[in-house]
Amino acid sequence: MVVWTDEERAAISDIFSKLDYDDVGPKCLSRCLIVYPWTQRYFGAFGNLYNAEAIMNNPLIAKHGTTVLRGLERALKNMDDIKNTYAELSILHSEKLRVDPDNFKLLSDCLTIVIAAKMGTAFTPEYQASFQKFLSVVVSALGRQYH
Ligand code: HEM
Repeated sequence: MVVWTDEERAAISDIFSKLDYDDVGPKCLSRCLIVYPWTQRYFGAFGNLYNAEAIMNNPLIAKHGTTVLRGLERALKNMDDIKNTYAELSILHSEKLRVDPDNFKLLSDCLTIVIAAKMGTAFTPEYQASFQKFLSVVVSALGRQYH
């Protein structure tokens, strides 16, 4: 079981309270698709991913970026039971979408980068450590149904 300190809980809540999902979600997903182009293979139905500009201006990618952050909010609201909260989402990504679970870490790193860039010095080393711990629990829960 994952144990969270009060400081970690406070840091993670504070980061989420400042998050503009419609800005950070699209930036994070499009960054992932640009920097790790092999992740594009799962988004064949999302239209034009021809180059970085096309990816950044693709409304379906933007919308899905927001969806991913809403998905993360479910983890925030269930911090003591992220594994069970994500059971269905893990099955979806493994059995239906067949997403290579290594990609979860790549996307979560893109999210950290976008948030760090936006928050600047407010993203302290303590905040960073707390947030990366949160994301590592998310990544592990999403990868749980793979076998
Ligand atoms: C769908 C969350 C990582 C590919 C979804 C959905 C959520 C979600 C909430 C919608 C599920 C539904 O419709 O019921 C997350 C979270 C991730 C993550 C929290 C990690 C932090 C990834 C990665 C990829 C990926 C790394 C591929 C590289 C997809 C695809 C869909 C999807 C292709 C279906 C999109 C559609 O057709 O509408 N994800 N995801 N996900 N995810 Fe993820």
